Amino acid sequence: MRVAVIGAGYVGLVQAVGLAHLGNKVTLAERDPARVAEIRAGRSPIFEPGLPELLSATLADGSLVVTDSNHAAVKDAQIVFLALPTPQGDDGEADVSAIYSVADELAAVLPQDCLVVTKSTVPVGTNLEVGIRTRRPVASNPEFLREGSAVTDFMKPDRIVIGTEDRRNVDQLIELYRSIDAPILVTDLTSAEVIKYAANGYLAARVTYANAMANVCEAVGADVRDVLLGIGYDHRIGFSFMRPGPGFGGSCFPKDTRALVRLAADAGYDFSLMSGVIATNEEQFARTVAKVRDAAGGKLAGARVAVWGLAFKAGTDDVRESPAVRVIDQLMEAGADVVAFDPQASVPGIPEGGDAMSTIKGADVLLIATEWPEFQRYDLRAVATQMRGSAIVDARNLLDPIAVRAVGLSYIGVGR
Ligand code: UDX
Repeated sequence: MRVAVIGAGYVGLVQAVGLAHLGNKVTLAERDPARVAEIRAGRSPIFEPGLPELLSATLADGSLVVTDSNHAAVKDAQIVFLALPTPQGDDGEADVSAIYSVADELAAVLPQDCLVVTKSTVPVGTNLEVGIRTRRPVASNPEFLREGSAVTDFMKPDRIVIGTEDRRNVDQLIELYRSIDAPILVTDLTSAEVIKYAANGYLAARVTYANAMANVCEAVGADVRDVLLGIGYDHRIGFSFMRPGPGFGGSCFPKDTRALVRLAADAGYDFSLMSGVIATNEEQFARTVAKVRDAAGGKLAGARVAVWGLAFKAGTDDVRESPAVRVIDQLMEAGADVVAFDPQASVPGIPEGGDAMSTIKGADVLLIATEWPEFQRYDLRAVATQMRGSAIVDARNLLDPIAVRAVGLSYIGVGR
């Protein structure tokens, strides 16, 4: 099929490359000329395993074309995907102005029967409004891609959700995804819009439950890993998305949980459960800061804190709303002398130490803030020798406490 994808951000780029790989003729439109040039040259502007290979292959065989013109992209399209950013606006509400301005811009040039599909995470009513503005059939097709495994998530999704007010629109999308083996759920537009928020809200709540449970375990002297294993064997609960840590972050959970509270409030429902998740997550950052302060002898001013990890999770260079950065900001505000290392990410204003081992030189405390597996492979004896102090705050429960203590370092984990 002939497909246009508007917006070469995370979602748009993976969607465009993925659909081209499945044999469609895809035109990806992006406003930023530097990004267009980079993608055309076969370089992925995001760190995403598997994407560079697929990008090069689809550019080479002509199934993917990249342009800076939205008009050119949609000229012959049968389906147009809107994959535009919906950043957090005032009061937690998602800002959909980018979607509406593109809908207005394209109304006059879209082919008459082409289907306009929203990929972006948008509040209730947005798709209907896109239909009014474009005067074309619309559908909602939310994405559930995780950074770091976005290509696999595209090729092997748990489900495909299609929301529409007119069943006739569904057939084209079913045809488009024909070679993907996944259940297809067809809903009305509003339900599809809510599904995306409901999924991210639930997952954020699960992570927060694990974090809160870890805090209970710290208070009573239990080991949260055993507790979570003990409940995870219950098939109603399971093991995934239950890793305690420094709090959740990233480009989706923080924004979508706030948007969910706002979406409910606008409709007259006080979603206090989700407000509690957000507040508990904020407390988790502060708890991590307090652990570092205690490990530094009760005072952060002047303490040298080495931090391993800046990305919001392992496997990505994304630092948006990263727990590591939230914690580092608080450490720096309290006067700590912070130096960080991350295998992929960097953040302006946060000093970096070159590599993992030079970063810990002379450190009073080592904080592990992102769960990069390579952090497990360093020689703990060498770590103990490089540091001035002797405390590791492992905010991701990445290291083995027994091995850490065996080299004379103290170990502070999460809930263990
Ligand atoms: C998320 C959703 O998983 C995805 O379906 C949606 O499309 C976009 O948002 P992503 O933002 O890539 O994906 O990150 P995810 O892997 O969900 O992690 C979010 C945050 O929760 C990270 O900070 C991560 O470290 C944290 N997390 C996750 C935990 O602390 N413990 C866990 O067990 C899982």
